[in-house]
Amino acid sequence: MKSISIKDIINNTIKNNSIIKINGWVKNKRSSKKKLFFVDIYDGSCIQTLQLVFTTEFINFKDSFLKIIPGCSISIKGKLVYKINKKNKFEIQVLKCKILGLVSHPDSYPMSSKKHTMEHLRKYAHLRPRTHIIGSISRIRSNIFYAFHKFFNKNNYYLVSSPIITSLNAEGAGDMFNISNLKNNLNKSLNKNNKFFGKDVYLTVSGQLTIEAYACALSKVYTFGPIFRAEKSNTTRHLSEFWMLEVEVAFKNLNEIIKIIEKMLKYVISFILKNNKNDLLFFNKNINSNLINKLKVFLKSKMLKITYDLAINILNKQKKIFKDKICYGDELTTDHEKFLVDKYFKSPIIIINYPKKLKPFYMRVNKDKKTVAALDILFPEIGEIIGGSQREERINYLDKRILELKLNINDYKWYRDLRFYGTVPHSGFGLGLERFIMYVTGIKNIKDVIPFPRTINNANF
Ligand code: 4AD
Ligand code: MG
Repeated sequence: MKSISIKDIINNTIKNNSIIKINGWVKNKRSSKKKLFFVDIYDGSCIQTLQLVFTTEFINFKDSFLKIIPGCSISIKGKLVYKINKKNKFEIQVLKCKILGLVSHPDSYPMSSKKHTMEHLRKYAHLRPRTHIIGSISRIRSNIFYAFHKFFNKNNYYLVSSPIITSLNAEGAGDMFNISNLKNNLNKSLNKNNKFFGKDVYLTVSGQLTIEAYACALSKVYTFGPIFRAEKSNTTRHLSEFWMLEVEVAFKNLNEIIKIIEKMLKYVISFILKNNKNDLLFFNKNINSNLINKLKVFLKSKMLKITYDLAINILNKQKKIFKDKICYGDELTTDHEKFLVDKYFKSPIIIINYPKKLKPFYMRVNKDKKTVAALDILFPEIGEIIGGSQREERINYLDKRILELKLNINDYKWYRDLRFYGTVPHSGFGLGLERFIMYVTGIKNIKDVIPFPRTINNANF
């Protein structure tokens, strides 16, 4: 007999009174005076649990029933019965029950049915997917990946796999993780400097530069991979290992790439509203009662776009909140960004045209020669989720920026080649997947939206 999932039942794909096989884990159990035993199981296919009813035929079941506690895994054969006008719209009348795995030490089981704090769950990253909250995050995370791929596939983009091992800091600055096989080659000489690749190599901080090479041939490309940054910031929005969606499009300028971003975000959010309804309802009830409304409002609104200049003007008018004047060229702090999105605009905003000294070498210098065609997209309660720009396609401007920033021009030979041979205007952006998941779920700490978070002093599991 083919086993089915709870989601199959929810989706009404199984007929009333069918005899089915289903596997899962016990969420809770109770018994009634009528000698009926009830067990709710979950299988992770959706947030709903399934009620199993053990009828009087299971009279000798009492001993086994005692052993079935939350966390046990069981396999059931039974009859699916739809109950009209009842809270549990369906149940399984059990014909056979096999216990697959008991909970060995019930008293010390860290995921016992009572409510746990997020901090407690973080300590048990290997067991926390069993909870409703991490289960829902995981289903949404998976569907977000799928929706991005679907969006780009539908719009004729090609997926390019950017390398994880790199000798270049794609952002031109910032801390990277070194990698080496030093332990293995202490006694062996590999090459003249005894380094595996003949040079220092790192884990990538961005796949942008390599996908630019492909955009300059396939026109519309994206990459979606893990990113590693050795920043020492242990905050609710920083990870040392996170996932970034990076998109690169030839023949497009900054405003055109902004339109693509808006279309993409709306596609993915409406996909999740449609396909993760029950997971979102759970977050709406338990995390933020405005969550679904917020997502629906986002779908209906046009994203606001302001310049860095305007942002500075707005901030300098808030003398009561920000005592110190913000000068042109200052970096916007987290407090400034929070004020703009949470208090002033109360919506996501796109800030464009930052002073060039605040941004990496590859961003295109604007006509004013002071600013670059950059974009940062800030979201309420989270801050920056997307960073991008039009890229500098003019070799003389690019070289000038590389030299101004005191980068080693020889490292960029291949990247400069793209400007020597058939250069084209092109633009792109990177979206921090985990920060985006925080926006969609309302979850406050980035460590809870990635299965096994890596942060400073924490690479457990
Ligand atoms: O703004 P960033 O640094 O942009 C780039 O790396 C570009 N090369 C992307 C591109 O144009 N192809 O990073 C992009 C996004 C940020 O907006 C943020 O959402 C996320 O990556 N991000 C982090 N997420 C979690 N933890 C960190 N330590 C992050 N650093 C950046
Ligand atoms: Mg950025």
